[in-house]
Amino acid sequence: MRLPAAMRYFLLLASLVLIVSASDECIPRDFGNDGTVCVCNSTYCDVTPEPSLPKEGSYLHYVSSKRGQRFNQTTGEFSNEPTSELNFNLNRSLTYQSITGFGGAFSDSAGINIKNLSQAAQNNLMEAYFGVNGSRYNFGRIPIGGSDFSTRKYTYDDSPDDISLAQFALADEDLQYKIPLMQKALELNPDLKFLAAPWTAPPWMKTNNDYNGIGFLKKEYYQLYTDYLIKFMDAYKDYGLEMWSLSTGNEPFNGLIPIISINSMGWTPSSLSNWISNNLGPTLRASPYNATKILTLDDQQFELPWFIAKLFKDPKTKNYTDGVAFHWYWDNLIGSSVLDATHDEFPDKFLIMTEACAGAYPTDVEKVMLGSWTRGESYILDIIENLSHWTTGWIEWNLALNEKGGPSWTTNFVDSSIIVNAENDEFYKQPTYYALAHFSKFIPRNSVRIDLPSSSDIKSVAFITPTNDTVIVLYNKNGTAQDLSIKDPNRGYINVKLPGSSIHTIIYK
Ligand SMILES: *[C@@H]1O[C@H](CO)[C@@H](O)[C@H](O)[C@H]1NC(C)=O
Ligand SMILES: *[C@@H]1O[C@H](CO)[C@@H](O)[C@H](O)[C@H]1NC(C)=O
Ligand SMILES: *[C@@H]1O[C@H](CO)[C@@H](O)[C@H](O)[C@H]1NC(C)=O
Ligand SMILES: *[C@@H]1O[C@H](CO)[C@@H](O)[C@H](O)[C@H]1NC(C)=O
Ligand SMILES: *[C@@H]1O[C@H](CO)[C@@H](O)[C@H](O)[C@H]1NC(C)=O
Ligand SMILES: *[C@@H]1O[C@H](CO)[C@@H](O)[C@H](O)[C@H]1NC(C)=O
Ligand SMILES: *[C@@H]1O[C@H](CO)[C@@H](O)[C@H](O)[C@H]1NC(C)=O
Ligand SMILES: *[C@@H]1O[C@H](CO)[C@@H](O)[C@H](O)[C@H]1NC(C)=O
Ligand SMILES: *[C@@H]1O[C@H](CO)[C@@H](O)[C@H](O)[C@H]1NC(C)=O
Ligand SMILES: *[C@@H]1O[C@H](CO)[C@@H](O)[C@H](O)[C@H]1NC(C)=O
Repeated sequence: MRLPAAMRYFLLLASLVLIVSASDECIPRDFGNDGTVCVCNSTYCDVTPEPSLPKEGSYLHYVSSKRGQRFNQTTGEFSNEPTSELNFNLNRSLTYQSITGFGGAFSDSAGINIKNLSQAAQNNLMEAYFGVNGSRYNFGRIPIGGSDFSTRKYTYDDSPDDISLAQFALADEDLQYKIPLMQKALELNPDLKFLAAPWTAPPWMKTNNDYNGIGFLKKEYYQLYTDYLIKFMDAYKDYGLEMWSLSTGNEPFNGLIPIISINSMGWTPSSLSNWISNNLGPTLRASPYNATKILTLDDQQFELPWFIAKLFKDPKTKNYTDGVAFHWYWDNLIGSSVLDATHDEFPDKFLIMTEACAGAYPTDVEKVMLGSWTRGESYILDIIENLSHWTTGWIEWNLALNEKGGPSWTTNFVDSSIIVNAENDEFYKQPTYYALAHFSKFIPRNSVRIDLPSSSDIKSVAFITPTNDTVIVLYNKNGTAQDLSIKDPNRGYINVKLPGSSIHTIIYK
């Protein structure tokens, strides 16, 4: 049968339109929780192309919601009048912190799960985090050696008393998982920066000769351990991977608590200060890595600001340290005033949230909750609240876990924004993935936060980007729709209807 040319042309156009729209959409799946995941595989994954901003006077508006919207995009026009009684005024002259970035961690477990997919599905997963059509993560956290999200306990030199570090060597985990994935991520986003963090020194350098438990670095090994960290930097540099920052150690408080089985090494403020000012600081600054930032604390926020205040009593330690990293666990017990207090006391030290995941508490019976909007919402509210109190970046824990929330040698299973089902060669993008992406994709590094109020139902945060675009992120906590008018004195009013439990990113020139 020969169709008339016009008809064939029409059919061709129709199929093209279908392909284009189909390639953007989330394929939802309901696992019985209060929301849905988006399913990706080797041939398909929903994407959100880079925003192309409309002319002045219009704005781009993305929405994701509990009811299943995922980056639904519209263009709106500024108006001269507000249509809602609820008004938020944007104030560009009230400026706060500069943003450092958003991301997740290249743990061994993340690598094991990602590499358990076919190459094509791996590519889709890496694009989803780092690609131009993905979340555009610009931070990756790297455990130095093993962590609780490894399948075994190890460091880079497990030969007892190897005081020349002659046996130092990267592990299979580095060569098979971390390094190739970091290289791939860097290809996808050249702005990606890495934050390295050791969980523990080699056991033989420690008072308890173990990977975990109550143990400290022996004084006679303060310099040797520093050299060990520099060897790590050298080894990764050989693969073209440089570290933007080096942490003084993941969760040192774990090394003071008997019941915790996570790899860890204890530091008190005075021992840590001693090591930073006499070993780590001078050695790093005299090394090829002199520009690498030193981050400290890297632990729970109940240690703010007192731990930092004690640490910075030594002016040398304070001078060597660039930033204060904190984790999100138990944070609703603390309150953001500790961030303000830390910032007020040490305004030139940036604050950054370096580890978060849902499902981490003993009360979380289900470690992985596929599709949980509640968990997505907890990320959104935390990010907005923390960014509203001087935090410059927000980094999730494992980039990907399996359906159990592992692997983890210490069975410390938790949730992640991407859950891999390797048997079906597919992966699930959780609501937390979209929660983080509403920030990471649109707020480039060095954006500056500007003033925008919140109400009890509607939380908000706003930024000016380095190219002088305005980015607003809003969340309606209320289960029912709310109207809002945002006044930008330079542009007019943005009048929006916010569906129940929905997150919005609004961007304009
Ligand atoms: C991947 O997912 C898409 C969309 O759901 C589906 O059409 C396709 O068959 C899947 N591919 C494979 C290899 O399963
Ligand atoms: C990004 O998405 C657009 C539109 O769907 C597509 O044309 C482009 O090829 C994608 N880019 C990459 C790197 O996947
Ligand atoms: C927007 O969101 C709805 C879910 O509310 C979804 O069904 C729809 O396909 C989405 N996409 C577009 C382009 O509207
Ligand atoms: C914006 O903030 C500046 C600095 O605090 C203040 O002087 C000004 O009154 C504010 N403008 C509005 C419209 O509130
Ligand atoms: C920092 O290290 C680089 C080499 O990586 C070197 O060129 C530079 O001179 C060093 N700067 C200082 C201040 O030591
Ligand atoms: C702080 O460190 C810088 C180099 O990192 C050095 O030039 C400066 O003298 C130090 N200042 C103090 C007070 O120690
Ligand atoms: C981060 O935000 C959460 C959620 O509002 C809050 O409970 C927590 O105290 C904040 N973190 C810090 C360190 O202030
Ligand atoms: C890797 O995938 C296989 C199925 O293809 C599964 O049996 C195995 O548990 C997966 N490994 C991990 C660490 O999840
Ligand atoms: C940035 O945008 C604001 C608001 O439109 C405008 O007032 C300001 O002049 C712009 N600044 C630069 C450096 O372009
Ligand atoms: C949600 O919004 C409705 C109507 O807009 C309001 O009556 C209700 O009090 C709000 N709920 C909460 C928990 O704030």
